Amino acid sequence: MLPTDDVSIGFVGAGTLGRGLALALDGVGRDVAAVSSRTRASADWLAERIDGCTALDTAQDVAHACDLVFITTPDAVIADVAATVNWRPVQGVVHCCGAASTELLTPAADAGAEVGAMHPFQTFAVLSEPPEAARRLSGVTFAVSATGWLADYLPSLAESLGGSAVTIPDELRPLYHASAVLSCGYVATLLDAAVNLWTTMGFSAEDGIRAAMPLARATIEAIAAAGPADAVTGPAVRGDAATISAHLEVLSRHAENLLPLYRELTLASLPLARGKGVPEADLARLRRTAGGAG
Ligand SMILES: NC(=O)c1ccc[n+]([C@@H]2O[C@H](COP(=O)([O-])OP(=O)(O)OC[C@H]3O[C@@H](n4cnc5c(N)ncnc54)[C@H](OP(=O)(O)O)[C@@H]3O)[C@@H](O)[C@H]2O)c1
Repeated sequence: MLPTDDVSIGFVGAGTLGRGLALALDGVGRDVAAVSSRTRASADWLAERIDGCTALDTAQDVAHACDLVFITTPDAVIADVAATVNWRPVQGVVHCCGAASTELLTPAADAGAEVGAMHPFQTFAVLSEPPEAARRLSGVTFAVSATGWLADYLPSLAESLGGSAVTIPDELRPLYHASAVLSCGYVATLLDAAVNLWTTMGFSAEDGIRAAMPLARATIEAIAAAGPADAVTGPAVRGDAATISAHLEVLSRHAENLLPLYRELTLASLPLARGKGVPEADLARLRRTAGGAG
């Protein structure tokens, strides 16, 4: 089968990513033809929003109906789906797991299907409208690896979504995915910690979010514009061990659980502080204050 714009695309798993990616592909004119999910309600949700897309009962039904099937279930379920469907030769079967290679799809490859891994370096959390899904993919990097016709088709799909494809060696995919988690989930964890300090001070979580978001947004925007080395601010990169010490002291009384995280982040900031010209003696004082060696 030649890769053309007419490839019919199906989804197995209408969750956070399945919904977002399907809506975005529909938004750029791709033929999203069928969807199934664990529950009918999830499949219906997606089918109702995409013209020409049918909610089907099973993954097998989607495999019968489509040239290319994205398995967008939770990571732990991908191999089961790959193993239980009867795939056709040359049909495309793709997962979107960041850390895993196409090995997860070995049963499909053994049946003669072409297999691929296509992971967007993007979050699809809290998305509901098709234009929003399409916007979210603009400029996004996709890690793509694939066999047969998918090797050309998936990068072109990434480009049609306004993104670009990179190749990550299989053994480095977990490292690539660790970078995604640091850019996304752990940013949320960090801001959750920041907001919790507001509730510790007696404010509501909403007050904390209202206070934290302009600061966090401006920081992200400054990093996007100038890179972390120029955008970073704060006591660690000013070489201000006295303020770090005051933070550690108050955290030990009010939020002891955050101490290890705060110490590690201070230590992780030292290379940025060195880059800003903080003298070695001040860096050593910071390292001692944060509890690191020497
Ligand atoms: N979330 C993101 O932003 C993001 C970003 C990049 C990559 N990914 C990748 O995308 C994939 C999906 O993640 P997700 O975050 O979208 O997960 P999710 O929100 O939990 O959605 C998974 C969906 O799969 C369905 N499902 C579960 N078991 C199934 C089965 N046995 N057969 C058919 N459908 C089944 C569930 O259906 P019901 O709703 O019907 O119960 C659920 O809607 C993963 O490989 C993940 O690594 C996610």
